[in-house]
Amino acid sequence: MAELNGALIGCGFFAINQMHAWQDVPGARIVAICDRDPERLRIVGDQFGIERRYSDAAAMFADGGFDFVDIATTVQSHRALVEMAAAHKVPAICQKPFAKTLDDAKSMVKTCAEAGVPLMVHENFRWQTPIQEVKKVLEAGVIGEPFWARFSFRSGYDVFSGQPYLAEGERFIIEDLGIHTLDIARYIMGDVRQLSARTKRVNPKIKGEDVATMLLDHESGATSIVDVSYASKLSTEPFPETLIELDGTKGSIRLSQGYRLEVTGPEGTTVTDVSPKLLSWASRPWHNIQESVFAIQQHWADSLAAGSETSTSGADNLKTFALVEAAYDSAASGQTVDVEAMLR
Ligand SMILES: NC(=O)c1ccc[n+]([C@@H]2O[C@H](COP(=O)([O-])OP(=O)(O)OC[C@H]3O[C@@H](n4cnc5c(N)ncnc54)[C@H](O)[C@@H]3O)[C@@H](O)[C@H]2O)c1
Repeated sequence: MAELNGALIGCGFFAINQMHAWQDVPGARIVAICDRDPERLRIVGDQFGIERRYSDAAAMFADGGFDFVDIATTVQSHRALVEMAAAHKVPAICQKPFAKTLDDAKSMVKTCAEAGVPLMVHENFRWQTPIQEVKKVLEAGVIGEPFWARFSFRSGYDVFSGQPYLAEGERFIIEDLGIHTLDIARYIMGDVRQLSARTKRVNPKIKGEDVATMLLDHESGATSIVDVSYASKLSTEPFPETLIELDGTKGSIRLSQGYRLEVTGPEGTTVTDVSPKLLSWASRPWHNIQESVFAIQQHWADSLAAGSETSTSGADNLKTFALVEAAYDSAASGQTVDVEAMLR
């Protein structure tokens, strides 16, 4: 396979994981990096031995010499950078949250489609080993048709020390973390017709909401609950595990803390350890997320080489992004929101 050369924009906190993962992905490598902060550029350039360094993305695109771009900046710059990639006909990966608004996200998808440029959102949570295992069991038909589910992420982990900007936004947990949990709910239970949500801010030191409870009506007729919290003080901190309960017509699935997967079907119950691998550069408790970063980037390299659509393409991610917008709308109005209408 010919090697794909990539460029990465945004050498911050999370980009370190992406850079490590690119070193492990056969068929792809990073040849240029960009950050407007010279210190971050130096740290990441030196750590990963990247010679081509830019403080300005426009200058990097003008020089070219890469087959794709990995945009690892925070949301404010996503639209401009994706549009720059499309203008240069460079396939793009964009970190989540995809955009500031659903209208921006729709426009970014349209621009890339018109330019014929593949676009993937770095929505990595569905690529976590335990989530993939739940999906496999469901697709094997062991529990029959799922009619109810709960996707739960409850933690008291201090995310603010690594990502101080999370304490400063008007919006917090749904936009930053719930976006992943909602994506998992869609991935497992299918697209969503309508949604209602309630939010709270428990931690007085932050600006946005740190607790949210969402009720989803899926197109299949199934119902699910997505509940997320960074205000939950538990005896054993579960960060960053997503716990799942799924009831089907023939059985049930329980993904519980400690990566324990319990499947009950007509033949009885099995219990499996679905722990993620601890990659050489990974560290606990982040290893679950770090392994999924490798998996999604491998998927990107494979899809680009094969000319196939990615699982979390820009078009797919609009349906997850709409759930985020719907949740904030519903929490503000107290009303149920028609998600399908938002996507029309
Ligand atoms: N999927 C996950 O599990 C996960 C986890 C953490 C963060 N994230 C996402 O990753 C993104 C980055 O988060 P972070 O914590 O690494 O942020 P960060 O602030 O640490 O890093 C962002 C970097 O981008 C640079 N930058 C911003 N705009 C730029 C521009 N126009 N040109 C060049 N450089 C620019 C900044 O200087 C900074 O170094 C966020 O959108 C966040 O939501 C995802």
